[in-house]
Amino acid sequence: MKHCGGICTKLFGIIKSNVLFGRHHCVLLIRFFILFIFCLLLLYFSSIHYYSFYCTNRFQQGLIEANKRNLWNTINGVRNQFMPILMPVCDRPHYLKRVLDGLARVDGINETLVIISQDCALSSITSMLSSIPSDIRTLILPHTPPYFSLPRYVDTNEYATSANVKFLLEFAFEYMLADGAILLESDLIPSVDFYRYHQWTYKNLLNINNSKILSIHSFNLYSTNLSDPYTLFPRGFDSWSWSTARTRWYWFKNQWTKYKNWDSIVSRTAKKDQWICILPKLSRTRMIGLKGINVNVYKESERKQFEENMYMSDKIIEYNEKKPKIVSF
Ligand SMILES: *[C@@H]1O[C@H](CO)[C@@H](O)[C@H](O)[C@H]1NC(C)=O
Ligand SMILES: *[C@@H]1O[C@H](CO)[C@@H](O)[C@H](O)[C@H]1NC(C)=O
Ligand SMILES: *[C@@H]1O[C@H](CO)[C@@H](O)[C@H](O)[C@H]1NC(C)=O
Repeated sequence: MKHCGGICTKLFGIIKSNVLFGRHHCVLLIRFFILFIFCLLLLYFSSIHYYSFYCTNRFQQGLIEANKRNLWNTINGVRNQFMPILMPVCDRPHYLKRVLDGLARVDGINETLVIISQDCALSSITSMLSSIPSDIRTLILPHTPPYFSLPRYVDTNEYATSANVKFLLEFAFEYMLADGAILLESDLIPSVDFYRYHQWTYKNLLNINNSKILSIHSFNLYSTNLSDPYTLFPRGFDSWSWSTARTRWYWFKNQWTKYKNWDSIVSRTAKKDQWICILPKLSRTRMIGLKGINVNVYKESERKQFEENMYMSDKIIEYNEKKPKIVSF
C-alpha cells in the first residue's frame, strides 16, 4: 500500500464514486421499471373496460337498426324463427367474394339473416359488403378488437379473430335471443344445402333433451361424391363452420381466453366435459383460405385435396322425415 500512495487513493476514489453513481442509477431504473409496469397494467385494465363498454354499445346499436329495418321482433327475440349465419370478416377480399357468391345460392338464405362483424375496416371489404345482393339479408356490425388493437402490431391477428367470433356469438345468443346460430368463417364457401343441413341437425341433434352434442360442423376434408348426406361422426372441435344452440353458449363463453387459441381450448375441455362435436361425411363447405394465420398449405398434394379431391354437397337434399345417422367414424 505504501508504494502506491496517491495513485491508489485516487483509484479507490474513482471506484467508490462509480459504485455510488451506479447505485443511484439502479434506484432510478427500478423506479422507472415500476412506473412502466404500472402504466402497462393501467392500459390493460382500461382497454378491457373500454372493450366491454364498446361491445355493449355496438350490440344496442345493432338492435336499434334491426328494429328500424324490421329484421326480427327485437322485443321477443328471434327464438326458433331462424338460425342467423354469423360471419367474422377482416381482410382477404378475394376469398370473401367467393363466399358471398356461394351464400347467394344457399337454399333458404332469404329466410335467415347474415350477421357480419367487420374487423380491420378495409375499404375493399366495406365496398364489397355494401354491394351484397338484396336476397341475402345482412346486418353489419363494425367491430374493433380488444386492447385498442395494439397486439396486432407485434403478433398475429389471431386474438382479434377470436374476439370477433365471441362478439358475434354473444350478439346472437344474448341480444338476438336466437335458439341456434351458425358460424361461417369468411374463407369457407357454403354448399347449396348448407342452411337446411344446419336446420335439420339443430332439430334432430342439438334441440333434444339431454343431448350431449356441443356443436355440428360442416367441413370435412375427406368428403367424396359417394359420402352419405345423412351420416355424421364425432370429431374434435374446429372453428371453421359450425352451429350450436343457445343452451351451450354459457359453456362456450367460459372457454374464451383473453388471448390466442380458444378453439383448441374448446376441443380439449369439451372432451373432458364429455361434450361431443359432430362432423358430416358429406362436406357442406369448401375451405378456400389456404393461406392464413393458422392454415398454410404448401404441399401440392394437400392443396389438391382441398381444392380438387374434396367433394362438397352440390344439390338440394331432402331432409324431411330423415333422421341423422351417427357412426363412430
Ligand atoms: C325465398 O325464395 C324462394 C325461392 O327463391 C321463394 O319461393 C320463397 O317464398 C322465399 N321466401 C321468403 C321468406 O321470402
Ligand atoms: C324435453 O323435456 C321437456 C320437459 O321435461 C318436455 O316438455 C319436452 O317436450 C321435451 N322435448 C323433447 C324434444 O323431447
Ligand atoms: C365420383 O368421382 C369419381 C372420381 O372423382 C368419378 O370417377 C365418378 O364418376 C363420380 N361418381 C359420381 C356418381 O358422380
